[in-house]
Amino acid sequence: MEAGVNPGEPATAGRPRVGVAGGSGYTGRELLAILAGHGGVEVAWATSRSEVGVPTAVPGVHLTDRGPDALDVDLLFLCLPHGAAVTWMEAARAQGVRAIDLTSDHRPGSGREDGVEYGMADLARERIQAASQVANPGCYPTGVILALRPLLDEDLIESGTPITIAAASGVTGAGRSPRRDLLFAEVSANYRAYGLGNDHRHLREMRAWLPGLPLLFVPHLLPAARGILETITVGMREGVDAARVREVWQARYADSPTVRILADGSPELRAVVDSDALILSAHDNAGFEAPTLTLVVAFDNLGKGAAGQAVHNMNLMLGFDAGQGLRCR
Ligand SMILES: NC(=O)c1ccc[n+]([C@@H]2O[C@H](COP(=O)([O-])OP(=O)(O)OC[C@H]3O[C@@H](n4cnc5c(N)ncnc54)[C@H](OP(=O)(O)O)[C@@H]3O)[C@@H](O)[C@H]2O)c1
Repeated sequence: MEAGVNPGEPATAGRPRVGVAGGSGYTGRELLAILAGHGGVEVAWATSRSEVGVPTAVPGVHLTDRGPDALDVDLLFLCLPHGAAVTWMEAARAQGVRAIDLTSDHRPGSGREDGVEYGMADLARERIQAASQVANPGCYPTGVILALRPLLDEDLIESGTPITIAAASGVTGAGRSPRRDLLFAEVSANYRAYGLGNDHRHLREMRAWLPGLPLLFVPHLLPAARGILETITVGMREGVDAARVREVWQARYADSPTVRILADGSPELRAVVDSDALILSAHDNAGFEAPTLTLVVAFDNLGKGAAGQAVHNMNLMLGFDAGQGLRCR
């Protein structure tokens, strides 16, 4: 089906139809809000089992309880809990419907990644354009891979010492189902690390896209609703400084609608929350014989870390401008 609309035609005529499984969750709601302002697609339906009839951000679209039979869309988004996307992906494949899975069910290391493109929209543009099934990257891996992959490709990283990734996410990163440890009284005015031991499931994705790098990943729970800040400490080859890293990033992300590189200072959450932007900065450190840099990455876990990257991937798959509908500032 053709992307775009002819002038004078009714609002939805000729537009690709999309469906959202899991439209009442945090990522699904974010996705529907972006799609409401996209202009190029028609949201045909969005699902929830517990909130049937509730209006979505898309005018005229109410949540409905439906399964994967007779999808009747051109592209399907899966905003479901882990494990629940498998049958939907199989149904999409059988019905010839393109799909973007926001769960980890088809990401690298899942055992189900065959025939599914990993949707790093800024790094695999051509492959995603040709893909019919895409596994949308996890939130934490998005920032880590965007920061480190260009440096790995240029052979700038000294991989003998651990690369430490201290990463903090707002509580929406854990989804909308109630949990005692995520109550306001537990989270507010508090800060803690979790997933200690360097075996977080997101490491599978990071390692698949950063082969050979000794990653040490420590996630933290941020007492805020949304946003991710990652601080990466990495040893570089002799002579490589922060200015060289910024040059490499600039060249790699020159065409990106969402990635920005700071020349001075480091990014703050407030610059990216409620947007689909991701901001990078690089800093030299005193006190080491070998160059040791700190890289800072900021983005919204629900924006660039989920729904924003999903829409970016949809744009590539359906032939829209890469940044159409995305909220970048
Ligand atoms: N939150 C983030 O920052 C983030 C970032 C990147 C990726 N992700 C991934 O994206 C996926 C969705 O995350 P989320 O935070 O949006 O989760 P969520 O807030 O818990 O939402 C889950 C959605 O799926 C529906 N659902 C639950 N169980 C279902 C089932 N068995 N079959 C069909 N629908 C079901 C829920 O509605 P009903 O229960 O009413 O059906 C709801 O709409 C997860 O796999 C998550 O890991 C999340």
